[in-house]
Amino acid sequence: MNRTEFLKSLGLSSGALMAVYCMGTLTSCSSSKDDPAPGTGTGTGTGAKVNFTLDLANANKALATPGAFVIKDDIIIANAKSGYVALSKACTHQGTTVEYQANNDRFYCPNHGSNFSTTGSVINGPAASPLKSYKIELMGTNLRVFES
Ligand code: FES
Repeated sequence: MNRTEFLKSLGLSSGALMAVYCMGTLTSCSSSKDDPAPGTGTGTGTGAKVNFTLDLANANKALATPGAFVIKDDIIIANAKSGYVALSKACTHQGTTVEYQANNDRFYCPNHGSNFSTTGSVINGPAASPLKSYKIELMGTNLRVFES
């Protein structure tokens, strides 16, 4: 008689059997390995410093419109009320991509409703950490996004 047959002979239901198995092999009952860890998802993932330029006269012409935003790699760049801003696109709660809301002049996470200011600071959670902020340099119609 194997373990399953023995437990069934005791009259345990399938749910009770599962509980017994989980107690014996906790790894099989742990949460999904695909669950994103809070606070991850910022940066480019390559370890290289961010440094790119957007052409506001051609490829990224739409960004020249006040209130517009674009996403490049892991960064969201918005034409905010205070000027161009560049922040990590990944919400610090669980990594969902945030969006710029021109009417509120803030970044909103559609997953659980966190809001961030244009400097990346948390306005309301559940996110507890700010979005990473990148430097901006406008030279004519070239918008450079970088970190020092
Ligand atoms: S992932 Fe953004 S608030 Fe939860």
